[in-house]
Amino acid sequence: MNDEIIKEIIQLKKEKNAVILAHYYVDGEIQEIADYVGDSYYLSKIAVNCKEDTIVFAGVKFMGESAKLLNPHKIVLMPDEDADCPMAHMCDEYFIQRKREEYDDLCVVTYINSTAHLKTLSDVCVTSSNAYKIVSQLPNKNILFIPDQNLGKHIAKMLPEKNFIFCNGYCPTHFRITVDELKEAKKLHPNAPVLIHPECRPELVELSDYSGSTAGIIDYARNDGHDEFIVVTEIGVLYKMQNENPHKKFYTVTKNQVCPNMKKNSLEKIRDCLKYQLNEVVLDEEFMEKAKKPLEMMHSLAK
Ligand code: 13P
Ligand code: SF4
Repeated sequence: MNDEIIKEIIQLKKEKNAVILAHYYVDGEIQEIADYVGDSYYLSKIAVNCKEDTIVFAGVKFMGESAKLLNPHKIVLMPDEDADCPMAHMCDEYFIQRKREEYDDLCVVTYINSTAHLKTLSDVCVTSSNAYKIVSQLPNKNILFIPDQNLGKHIAKMLPEKNFIFCNGYCPTHFRITVDELKEAKKLHPNAPVLIHPECRPELVELSDYSGSTAGIIDYARNDGHDEFIVVTEIGVLYKMQNENPHKKFYTVTKNQVCPNMKKNSLEKIRDCLKYQLNEVVLDEEFMEKAKKPLEMMHSLAK
């Protein structure tokens, strides 16, 4: 069954001159057929440079929107139009406005996991792999970091000279993982380093040996000499880790390490969105001009 669908996808990609981008959190069978698989920063760079006319983005809405903003003349298709990141919505324009009035030199630093609307109100975007590099280059003392308070607090710890302000946003998938669950996993696997995503709560990040983006976690497991690891992020990363390191063991701390929105992507939906040109990302031109600025700023500061 899958073989048939994969054949159709390959054929459709040729006919439509399309490329498939997939995030590490989607199912392994999608990562297998994608042209590019990566973390949010890597995929946004691919979106800027790819030559094909159509981009199919197996991920969540903010990823497709970012690809469209960076490449307004391309067709960007989402396999599932309801695959949306709840955290992307966890700040609002009135909060940002109030903070801008309160602080003269405020820089609004927005995690790429945000709506295009929030991006129109922002100065610069960041991802988990470049946030420190970017914020450390900003001349501003006052940083409003939205919407992920956990990633923001992680970066703030490394930059004590700045004054960070947060909103209450968080990733529900990473938030669900508890300190007790991690402690239990450490008891069961005392020799396994803990690799964690900074979207987890700070109390968990403190108990880790390495924290970084999905690509950073995968690189660490590849290059480190240990033969077992506790992985504290969405379970999709295990596909690449296990494939690259068949003799190493990878443990999750709970069965809950699943992002239901990333899991809405499927091979069938990839085929169908290509076949019928479904779920195209369409944004107003003037709006796109504003929303792409912080993304372009990110790309120039992250170089
Ligand atoms: P990265 O792949 O950039 O680490 O992002 C993680 C994530 O939560 C994407 O939704
Ligand atoms: Fe959003 Fe979290 Fe899912 Fe990433 S893992 S898409 S941040 S809900």
